[in-house]
Amino acid sequence: MESSPWAGPRRPTVVRLLLLLQLFPALFVDRGGAAAGVDKGTSVYPAAVVYPHHSRQISWKPRVFLYQHFLSDDEVNHLISLARAELKRSAVADNMSGKSTLSDVRTSSGAFLRKGQDPIVAGIEDKIAAWTFLPKENGEDMQVLRYKHGEKYEPHYDYFTDNVNTVRGGHRYATVLLYLTDVAAGGETVFPLAEEVDDAKDETLSECAQKGIAVKPRKGDALLFFNLNPDSTTDSVSLHGGCPVIKGEKWSATKWIRVASFDKVPHAQGNCTDENESCAKWAALGECLKNPDYMVGTTALPGYCRKSCNVC
Ligand SMILES: *[C@@H]1O[C@H](CO)[C@@H](O)[C@H](O)[C@H]1NC(C)=O
Ligand SMILES: *[C@@H]1O[C@H](CO)[C@@H](O)[C@H](O)[C@H]1NC(C)=O
Ligand SMILES: *[C@@H]1O[C@H](CO)[C@@H](O)[C@H](O)[C@H]1NC(C)=O
Repeated sequence: MESSPWAGPRRPTVVRLLLLLQLFPALFVDRGGAAAGVDKGTSVYPAAVVYPHHSRQISWKPRVFLYQHFLSDDEVNHLISLARAELKRSAVADNMSGKSTLSDVRTSSGAFLRKGQDPIVAGIEDKIAAWTFLPKENGEDMQVLRYKHGEKYEPHYDYFTDNVNTVRGGHRYATVLLYLTDVAAGGETVFPLAEEVDDAKDETLSECAQKGIAVKPRKGDALLFFNLNPDSTTDSVSLHGGCPVIKGEKWSATKWIRVASFDKVPHAQGNCTDENESCAKWAALGECLKNPDYMVGTTALPGYCRKSCNVC
């Protein structure tokens, strides 16, 4: 036998051309999103490809992975230019009510990009799904952030402690941070409770980044970490923060990925109403949090006071 077992049968050139043509239309069809009535944007790129050798493990406690050169310069510039026009001061979720509030804990400015809002955004979301093995529908809208000199995000958890923010899609299972700029000094992502490795510390890290494990922002790199353990309990060592920017400006984009679909808004078809005349009073007394199954509902059953609890 002349041919190696790997070579496969030789095909005449014409047949190979036909095969290529059969593959070609695949480049122009939307891959699932539009059919499900979710994506507005249509990705014109071939199916997302990620390269495992670009990705390395940074820590197991918590689970953190870094992918170098995840985004092209064009993708980075596109995200920044989309966000620049719409920057607003970033908020945090109040740890009791779940309401969005301003806080000195988080001083950046940010903008949300609609999921699949254009082919480039959709293409990035495809790549994130392929890298994390987590479905695109579980992802929230991407949030682009700008940190100027001195701005930071103090250590916090990405999972929620309130019951309102988890109604849509459940907990934030994983977080992908896309670095859109290098930062001359500061701006590291720090995991202060991470198990430290024995390697000599990077001398160029800022003081804030000395505890635990820290990752320096590099334009185009992506950081993946998990906020829940594999058994779905919350991971108390997933605490992380953005160190103050000391020199330069930091831009990043965050994709939070839920345990379930973020696209299926529970009970969105029904009217946004309260089913009991006492709902407003109960909500004011904090019942949305104390008694969420009745007030807010579960993914299986709508609650009785969804309007007063601000979940529709
Ligand atoms: C909620 O936030 C307050 C301050 O904003 C803090 O004192 C408290 O410990 C937090 N509670 C939880 C459960 O994280
Ligand atoms: C919404 O409310 C209107 C008026 O109260 C009612 O006619 C309609 O049937 C309701 N729709 C649903 C889906 O409950
Ligand atoms: C509202 O809730 C109260 C207390 O549970 C109950 O007695 C009443 O029947 C409810 N009203 C309606 C319209 O369901």
